[in-house]
Amino acid sequence: MANKDVTDPARMEKIVSLCKRRGFIFQAGELYGGLNGVWDYGPLGAELKRNLKDYWWRKTVQERDDVLGMDGSILTMEQVLVSSGHVGGFSDPMVDCKTCKGRFRADNLETSQCKEKPSVCPGQSPKCELTEPRQFNLMLQTNFGATGEQIAYLRPETAQSIFVQYKNVLDSNRIKLPFGIAQVGKSFRNEINPRNFTFRSREFEQMEIEYFCHPDDGLRLTDEWLETRLSFYEEIGIPRTKLHINDIPDGERAFYSKKTYDIEYEFPFGVQELEGVAYRTDYDLGVHQKGAGKPLEYFDEETKQKFLPHVVEPSAGCDRTVLALICEAFDEETLTDEKGKEDVRTVLRFKPAMAPIKVGIFPLLKKNEEQVRIARDIQKSLQKWMTVFYDDGGAVGRRYRRQDEVGTPFCVTVDFDTLGENGAELKDTVTIRHRDSMEQERMKIDALLPWLLERVR
Ligand code: GAP
Repeated sequence: MANKDVTDPARMEKIVSLCKRRGFIFQAGELYGGLNGVWDYGPLGAELKRNLKDYWWRKTVQERDDVLGMDGSILTMEQVLVSSGHVGGFSDPMVDCKTCKGRFRADNLETSQCKEKPSVCPGQSPKCELTEPRQFNLMLQTNFGATGEQIAYLRPETAQSIFVQYKNVLDSNRIKLPFGIAQVGKSFRNEINPRNFTFRSREFEQMEIEYFCHPDDGLRLTDEWLETRLSFYEEIGIPRTKLHINDIPDGERAFYSKKTYDIEYEFPFGVQELEGVAYRTDYDLGVHQKGAGKPLEYFDEETKQKFLPHVVEPSAGCDRTVLALICEAFDEETLTDEKGKEDVRTVLRFKPAMAPIKVGIFPLLKKNEEQVRIARDIQKSLQKWMTVFYDDGGAVGRRYRRQDEVGTPFCVTVDFDTLGENGAELKDTVTIRHRDSMEQERMKIDALLPWLLERVR
């Protein structure tokens, strides 16, 4: 088990700076000084996030016949969140320091920094004067109706609309237990201390599955989902060795949960949660059945049993996974040229399926019209299938480096050989350069598309 306190702030600083410099992530409202805990994804960040969400959807919904998708509303009825317990209990205990006016999570004081003296924790400086902990509800409320008389909430998790629509999904689809409903979407929490870049934000996306089952199967399915989710992370490029499973002990889990695993990743700011896999029993359907006064039981035709299904919930954070992908991919490689001169190459080693740009396409010489024409044709033929980037600016070595820095796995260069100037056998071939090994190979233009399709999905 890695020491949870091992951190690498210098690495994190470089990652945050790269994210801004190359257009992955910006602070929301930066032009006006910035909105704390809220982030905008730039062109490359948007592609990366989309790749992750599409892959999750494909693996979770499209490639399984026991999980259906849904897309619920963000605005949530007050009654739904009263029944779920969020209105009454979704809160963090906070303490205020009367000296520096800072506000800190009471259960996190030892990892927070005192504003007066950042080298110590709040309460440890003689100047600190801490209040007793008070509960702060994390939900964001809004009003609508002509006079704003109706209260609604921006959902704090995507899960609740799944529970509320469980019966509609069941009745409108020919599906039997066990089955899941999956959803990807925005959630909002008024986090008191947003921190660690996008890790703890006030607006974020979740990728959640509520898997409904017979009560006898809950514990087994929780373990199965844990394995499925661990394999998913491995497939997208987060190795098992960097993941930690925190089997939450009795007494620390939510009172209704019989088992909860937190899947944690070794971020540069410490080992922190990526996803929770929780066995929530029949708590959720139970509270909504009671709150709405409508039956949500399931009738098993075979056994003639009527019961309230239990739920296993793998709940992942999309933004946290994007951040983990970037942290995992970030590498600085020292290269030595023939003259012994050292140079550092920054490279994001994304798996091709996650990479925001799949192929860089370059004419060797911008002034050579024939090279430009062929490169543009290649661009046109590939961009129907994948994200490509055309670049003719500066030396080709520099162009490779620019693509390395944003994680493009392949670059295609059209050169004089392509035009047949160095022999007929090289005519209509291009160079493919591999990001990780920097090796180059020659390939027929016609073979490019199938070769790439096999590697980038
Ligand atoms: N439905 C269960 C649920 O929402 P959670 O542990 O509160 O459980 C699930 O959230 C996941 O959502 C977390 O593991 C994390 O990845 C993500 N998440 C939660 N709060 C977040 C925040 N403030 N910023 C970014 N991601 C967050």
